[in-house]
Amino acid sequence: MGEKIAVIDSGGRGSALVRGYARSPRVESVLAIPGNDLMKIGQHKSVETFPTVKTTDVGAIVQICRDRKISFVDVAQDNAVERGLVDALQKAGILALGPRRIAGIIEWSKVFARSFGERHSLLQPEWHAFASENGAISHAESAQGKPMFIKADGLCEGKGAIPARNTTEAIGAIKEMKNFKNGAGRTFLVEDWMKNEDGTDGEEFSAFAISDGRNVAILGYAQDHKRANNFDEGANTGGTGCVSKPMVLTDDIKAEVYGIFERTITGLKSEKREYRGIIYLGGMLIREGGVLRPYVVEFNSRWGDPETQAILPGIKNDLFLMGAKAASGDLSRIKILHDGKIRVTVAGMSRGYPGDYSAARGKEIFGLERAMRLDGVEISGAGVKVVDGHYFANGGRLFYVTGEGRNAIEAREKAYSALAGISIEGNNLHYRTDIGWRDVERLNLARRA
Ligand code: GLY
Repeated sequence: MGEKIAVIDSGGRGSALVRGYARSPRVESVLAIPGNDLMKIGQHKSVETFPTVKTTDVGAIVQICRDRKISFVDVAQDNAVERGLVDALQKAGILALGPRRIAGIIEWSKVFARSFGERHSLLQPEWHAFASENGAISHAESAQGKPMFIKADGLCEGKGAIPARNTTEAIGAIKEMKNFKNGAGRTFLVEDWMKNEDGTDGEEFSAFAISDGRNVAILGYAQDHKRANNFDEGANTGGTGCVSKPMVLTDDIKAEVYGIFERTITGLKSEKREYRGIIYLGGMLIREGGVLRPYVVEFNSRWGDPETQAILPGIKNDLFLMGAKAASGDLSRIKILHDGKIRVTVAGMSRGYPGDYSAARGKEIFGLERAMRLDGVEISGAGVKVVDGHYFANGGRLFYVTGEGRNAIEAREKAYSALAGISIEGNNLHYRTDIGWRDVERLNLARRA
């Protein structure tokens, strides 16, 4: 008899995790709570979903895991970490991968994260925290028009950091914070907008590691695109696609990134906030003295979405063994093995997302099954409803197409040739056509040289 495990998530990240755990010969079946309809398609192992259970319903999730004799739970969703699901599962004697609330706070309390960064000498921007809107506004007014970031101190569905290019935008952003849910926006964090020495913007990247509270191992790197439209324009979204791994990350930068993770895990332990689970560094590369240095933009207490869809297929380790070792405090001898391929993931979205996409809701999606059968392509579902073998749009980010190759050009060709065969009734499919553009440009420049 193999292991019965559970993944707590509903999106593309959860789909990639379910597929990854199902590959483990030790895993017999997977529960996805709440999961989504595409997770079950094409699986060779039993996958059960619970569409009506919310990731924040700690009591219901613990009960399901007890009833089904689940031996291991991957708590992949930040709001479940914030509600204390890992703590509750541990109390029930169930092995859970993810930080307890006391450590997961590094994601949702931006003020804690910045003061922690200061205590442990992490490279980060200048920051100021204010307990009142007026305090934050006075600070913005005194900054003489300098660009800044305004951040809410709490979980806000990826919308908690607002870029402000001048004082007027900064004041608008500070006032907007009042509308955030869950008490986010009661404390105002105002940060300098980090710039390269020549005044241009830095380059973002993300890095993912796993820790057992003492040891830390890097799982992978990615470069995410958050804006809805090509040229990194349009509204901010939860992520429209990414490349893994980005070429800009040299061995020297990766060594510095490892140092950031090490200091963070050791620092959390020293502050009695032992962190077990996946830790996500949102970073910014800033050129100083001619050298790119990785600054901490934020930490998240989970995998990224869509970065998981691009990184996980390349990890050759047994995901269940690795997760169980981290959760039980025993990662010391783990070595992460990669297949060496580059992957590009593109989000297939409802037209209008992240604004009004009601015209797409309920419309039929064509071509997904064919795309699932293509070599070198993986499809991860999110907002797709399956009824009698037909697929329907049921959300903003619907599915993700990951293409693999020897470099970003090949990987991107795979992803986009799969996407070319997918459509949504009424021309309602939207996706960006420039995911991974920086690396495609770097490769083309290198070829020309
Ligand atoms: N890709 C951004 C996130 O997962 O928050």
